[in-house]
Formats: sequence, C-alpha cells, structure tokens
Amino acid sequence: MTGQGEHNPESAGRQCVKYSFFKVDPGFRRLSHEKQADLKLELIGTIRSFNRRMLLRAYSLFGLRGDVDFMLWQVAEEVDAFNALASAIFSTSMAPYLQTPYSLLGMTRRSIYDIGLQGAEAEERIIIQPGDGKYLFVYPFVKTRAWYALPFEERQRMMSEHIRVGRKYPQFKLNTIYSFGLDDQEFVVAFEGNSTSAFLDLVMELRDTEASRYTLRDTPTFTCINMTLPQVLDSIGGAQVADEAGPDVESHEGGWLNAIALADLPPGSSTRVYMGSQQIALFNVDGQVYAINNRCPHARGPLCEGRLHINGSGPAVTCPWHKADFDLATGSVIEGPISAPVRTYAVKIEDGHVYVAEQAEVTA
Ligand code: FES
Repeated sequence: MTGQGEHNPESAGRQCVKYSFFKVDPGFRRLSHEKQADLKLELIGTIRSFNRRMLLRAYSLFGLRGDVDFMLWQVAEEVDAFNALASAIFSTSMAPYLQTPYSLLGMTRRSIYDIGLQGAEAEERIIIQPGDGKYLFVYPFVKTRAWYALPFEERQRMMSEHIRVGRKYPQFKLNTIYSFGLDDQEFVVAFEGNSTSAFLDLVMELRDTEASRYTLRDTPTFTCINMTLPQVLDSIGGAQVADEAGPDVESHEGGWLNAIALADLPPGSSTRVYMGSQQIALFNVDGQVYAINNRCPHARGPLCEGRLHINGSGPAVTCPWHKADFDLATGSVIEGPISAPVRTYAVKIEDGHVYVAEQAEVTA
C-alpha cells in the first residue's frame, strides 16, 4: 500500500494547480471545416484521456482578451501530470495552431493568517473543490517586499480588514494558491461567481483597503467563462463539434465510469482517480476492488494513502492523518475521531477494466 506517512499539517494533502492559457493561431481558421472538426475532436479526446488523472475544467476567454482564447484549469497531486498533459496536447495535430501565452502554477496551502476558519473548514483550504460559478476571475498576485518586513501582527490586522471586505460578497468562492519558488508570482487568485458587475465592485472595494498599498502586481487579469471543452473549442469559431463530442463527463451504460485498467491496480495496491471533481480511492484486496471517496470525512485526509488491513469483518483502511478506521465495503467507521461514514461507490470489473458508479445511479 502506498504512502503511509504521518500527517504533517504544514504540507500534507496539498494539491498542485495549473492555469494554462491558450491562443489559437489564425492559420487554424484557414483550414477546411472538415479538417477543423478533425483537429478539435482529436484534441478533445486527448485532453479527456486525462480526466481520471486530474481535475480538469475548460473556460473560454474568446472575445474577452486579445491575447488568449481559452484556459484549462488543472488540479492534480503532482506537477508531472501537467507536464504529461502538455506533452499530449502538443503531440496532437492541433499543436501547430496552439500557443500558451500565459501559464500560472502553484499549490494549495493553509494561510499563515487567522482567516476565521477552524478544523475541517481550514483543512478544506488545501483541497480545490470547484463550484458551479459561470465565471472564473483569475490573476497572479505579488506583494511588495515592504509587506514582508512588517511585524506579523500588523499584517494580520490588515488582512483581517481585507477578509472583512471579501465576506461582504459571499456569492464568490475564492480559490487561492501559492506559487512561491514555483512560478513568477507569489499567489494565484481565482474567484468563482456568476456576476461580472459584483466582482468589479468587490475588486474596487479591495483597492481601498490598507493591504492594497502593499500590492506589487496583480495583472494580467483573466475573465473566464465556464463551458464544456467542446463548447470552449466551438467558441473560437470554425467547425462546430459539441454535438458530436458529447458531454465532458463520459459515462458507461447505466452510469458506470471506466476508472482504470485492472492491470494498473494489482492486488495489494491502491490509487486515486478523478470522477469530475470527486476523488475516488480504489483498493484491490486480493482481486476484489473497493471504491470509497478519497477524502476522509474527518478532515479530508487522502484515504488512498492509508494503511490497508483486515478487520474482523473484512478489509479496512486507516486514514493516514488521524487514524480513523473505515470498513471498505460499507464505509462505516470502525474506530476513530469521527462517526460519519465515508461515501462508497459501486464497483464492477468488465473486460479488464474497473468501473465505478454512484451507488444510487447504478441501473445494471
Ligand atoms: S483526516 Fe482525520 S482521521 Fe482522517
């Protein structure tokens, strides 16, 4: 079983996050519609093949900025996944027509300031869980060095004012990642919401806060519109492929999702796959595969990294963070600091592949 390390509250469970912005070369528009459709469908298939390895969301910026057409929001457990996705994208026939004018890399991390979140809520800060906002407003953020020279209490006082202003706009979900040492900026800020005018008002109010005096850079700013990947590619013009490409979250008949080849999950191993924004932990116990939500209901510990063992009634996994013990078949708590069970998923093996489904959605 992989990764049985102790929970280090300063670093455990963080996620890597990447915003990749693409510009489509005008030469693409000179291609025949048939060729454009072929290239779009190949690109969609290539990007979708990474859906189990990372959380992927597509956004259009077409017509909103001159230098960028669309963006892929990627969340994974290691930066290598982003490297693999970029290699795959630039190995498609669409590659000669794509550029990446901007790319923002970072990781989740708990704030060093008191932002009024405790326990499980604070743990949530290290997990990206996108909402349903129509828009995503993304920008890099750098503080002046003078900010870091201030006493911590002084910075906390200004951050508290900044947070008070932000809380006046609860309709926005804030996803902040840290880029120190990884990329040019210090943070990448991403607000999800449904109103461009409310976001404009929020940013104007934030400019009036004392902390704003210590902003060195917070541009370029990207206003991104959430769409399915085929809709994003159709938004740039040319042949329309959304109907043919179908929805982004593919499903097997009866709601089953092809999660992984059984050969990639040998007996005694565990892994994590993505189903949309959900992380699912898969365990192979002597040929029997179990699927539970990867995030421990106590404080979001990664259960796929837990210790697998046989309890009196069957296989169980121990959360690597605070040692809650879960029955793999039922998700119930055997012992530990919580009583809430972890969610389980239906599993079936067919043609050498492991399929998972929401328990309530299984029809066959
Ligand atoms: S995160 Fe605390 S027991 Fe799992």
